[in-house]
Amino acid sequence: MPGIIPAETIESILDRVDIVEVVSSYIPLKRAGRNLRALCPFHHEKTPSFMISPDKQIYHCFGCNAGGNALSFVMQYEKVDFLEAIDMLAKKAGVEIEHSASGFKREDVSVKTKLAKINELSSFFYHKNLLSLSDAALARDYLKQRGVNEAAVKNMRLGFAVDKWDSLLEYLKTKGINPAPANQLGLIINNDKGGFYDRFRKRIIFPIFDIRGIVLGFGARVLDNSLPKYINSPESPIYVKGSHLYGLNFSKDAIREKDSCLIVEGYMDFFIPYAHGIDNIVASLGTALTKQQIRLIKRYTHNVVLMYDSDPAGELATLRSLDLFIEEGMGVRIVSLDKGYDPDLFMRKFGVGAFKDRVDNARDLFDYKLEFLKSHYGSGDIQKKAKIIDEMLVTINKLANAVVKMDYLRRLSEELSVPESAIMQEAAKIKSKYTDFAMSADRDKNRLAKFQNNPIAFEKLLVGLILQEEELIHKISADISPGDFQDRQLGKIMATVFELVRLGKTIDPHKLLHHFSDDAEISSLVCELSTKEEEMIDREKAVKECVARLKKQGTRNTRDKLCEAIKDAQRLNDQARLTHLLHEFNDLVKGKVF
Ligand code: UTP
Ligand code: MN
Repeated sequence: MPGIIPAETIESILDRVDIVEVVSSYIPLKRAGRNLRALCPFHHEKTPSFMISPDKQIYHCFGCNAGGNALSFVMQYEKVDFLEAIDMLAKKAGVEIEHSASGFKREDVSVKTKLAKINELSSFFYHKNLLSLSDAALARDYLKQRGVNEAAVKNMRLGFAVDKWDSLLEYLKTKGINPAPANQLGLIINNDKGGFYDRFRKRIIFPIFDIRGIVLGFGARVLDNSLPKYINSPESPIYVKGSHLYGLNFSKDAIREKDSCLIVEGYMDFFIPYAHGIDNIVASLGTALTKQQIRLIKRYTHNVVLMYDSDPAGELATLRSLDLFIEEGMGVRIVSLDKGYDPDLFMRKFGVGAFKDRVDNARDLFDYKLEFLKSHYGSGDIQKKAKIIDEMLVTINKLANAVVKMDYLRRLSEELSVPESAIMQEAAKIKSKYTDFAMSADRDKNRLAKFQNNPIAFEKLLVGLILQEEELIHKISADISPGDFQDRQLGKIMATVFELVRLGKTIDPHKLLHHFSDDAEISSLVCELSTKEEEMIDREKAVKECVARLKKQGTRNTRDKLCEAIKDAQRLNDQARLTHLLHEFNDLVKGKVF
């Protein structure tokens, strides 16, 4: 059945829906570390064993083994077939599907789709204004002078609202659109006499797209120094502030490819670097980042670099908000530009090389915060140091990896010349978890030791760790191949993983699932392994250990088989074969310790 709709269409739908959004529209979810948890909707239970991974965009129930991606969830929950589920998701994602199968009609477009359509019409109306009206010459000059080229104007669909009270209003009328929905979108505003007038006048228009390219709302800038500099669309049924990031629809592929995302504040800070090839960039549009926005980025990368105006974290509050990245298990680095510069100005003045240099040399949150606190509080006496330590521990405390935590605590002790033991004591006060730091390294060992006589357990752990942390594959890919796996299903999963890696693609479990759409057992296994919380602390070490075990086991199996074959050859007195097998045996045991 999946053959009817092209795989790319399905992928693009899956790219545009968020499993958390989909599932939470049916059942309530609770956060559980990196994942979300719920009572399983597919079997009766009292304690939740249904896990959703926003990173991996999949779900898995450890109780009944149900699992899959957004698509399989809708199929299972709504009890609909593949095509119906695709259609439901496509609507959510705003993707038009051309069905080659007949008898499949689109239902009425929803309210949201209608609103989106009005925004889209308006965006093109403003865009045409900017491109062709003589009234817009000033705006065209302004953009040119600020270095926004025609490609950017067209690509980002920039526009211009003329200096009139009813220009959009009249346009929408000619398109047969009622004032009410346009008013709901904030495009037109009620006047005293029961009529309406345009919100945006004599301003450059920046459509704000969501990740699918749907126009959610607009920002509008004056052409001079008058205030307010920007006015923005209000919230509406389709525009919820803090849940999108400007530019992500343009940059998501580059972010994934470069495995890093540069976050800036303003529109211009987005356009100028983007035009110069810094295409893994988004703009927060001047508001503090929300968890939702951070999770949006997390679907494409775990590494962000913040480049805000001169002092990005000029205030402690802003700095604290960056802990959100740490909570989400992401790496965050910060570039602070000199006073008076924002990314746009910096790039135009110093060029793209200098800009890249700054990004490459961004400091991690730990260093940045420590330096900030030192200059904020001063670090002369022990009282001040204590304050700094308190503040630093808030951030360090949020690190999920105990080994990394330990390292930061050590560094903190060095930087402030305060004994590590004292810092550890403070840390322990914040969270008793710290007390078992010392045991953390042993924990991994103990877990692995439990697998001693179970080679499949090592294979499972290995595949699980890789599915949960893609980068790990690169640490071991040279040392192992799918053929090394004894378990047929795990071997199959790894074969696909290797193939994706070879093609330079990411190993998103929800996409991986596609390759096994005809094998429910493997699909379920992929989901189980990707969602299971692996308690390994040093994951890289664990992965390498697993590989070593597999290799050892593999060699042992080959050796056993060879021995059997040698016995056979001896029995049959097949000298030629015997010589050949003995050579093989010698090669195998050379330098290997069993
Ligand atoms: P900035 O004041 O840094 O503006 O605000 P900017 O983007 O650098 O604009 P230029 O360079 O002067 O043209 C950063 C962002 O905050 C929002 C906008 O989204 C802006 O891009 N903002 C700012 C507003 O919404 N309203 C305002 O009045 C000012
Ligand atoms: Mn600016």
